[in-house]
Amino acid sequence: MNCRNLIYYASFTGNTELVAKVIEEVFEEADWENDIVKVGRDFDPKHHEIDFLSYDFICGGSPVLWHVPFDPLLWGIRTVSHRVEYGSMKTGPKRGLAFATYGGAHFGEHEADAALILLELAYEHLGLKSVGKIAVLGKVSHRGMKDWYFPDMHTRPNQNDLDRVRAMTMEAIAVV
Ligand SMILES: Cc1cc2nc3c(=O)[nH]c(=O)nc-3n(C[C@H](O)[C@H](O)[C@H](O)COP(=O)(O)O)c2cc1C
Repeated sequence: MNCRNLIYYASFTGNTELVAKVIEEVFEEADWENDIVKVGRDFDPKHHEIDFLSYDFICGGSPVLWHVPFDPLLWGIRTVSHRVEYGSMKTGPKRGLAFATYGGAHFGEHEADAALILLELAYEHLGLKSVGKIAVLGKVSHRGMKDWYFPDMHTRPNQNDLDRVRAMTMEAIAVV
């Protein structure tokens, strides 16, 4: 049976979705089965049918919103991980990858750190070992300002960004 990957993400203006699609392609090329779950504003984290524990790999992705991931996305995992026995929280053979897109208008790359760590901690509570964190710059409604940290933000993610996502995902799969 093929290894199974879950791509579990939120995206409101499409940046994180672009990254999710590259990740999906890389897993497909490596002959993994992919399930894709996109979480929107109507997602109820306490009542869902996502069987996180059935996957060999989980890629969790979110836009950075006020420094953190989309809250229901995290709670969707937490409501499961808090039912897992404490003893089973040691990381096993399963793997996880966190990805986030961000604007970084004030502090640059640093603005994605908290979201990536929170995503990572969420799936680590399911017993998955983290094999990568990918931060990708993303436009905010096509606005760009010369005095923002990344003046070309309105053109991102660009092809170079997506090529980097591809390379980092291939590295993460190679660890499995
Ligand atoms: C309400 C809101 C809050 C945001 N807060 C932050 C933030 O704190 N730090 C940051 O770097 N980017 C922030 N951003 C920018 C988004 O993270 C960025 O545009 C992201 O790529 C959007 O992803 P999406 O297109 O998948 O929805 C914010 C955007 C919005 C709309």
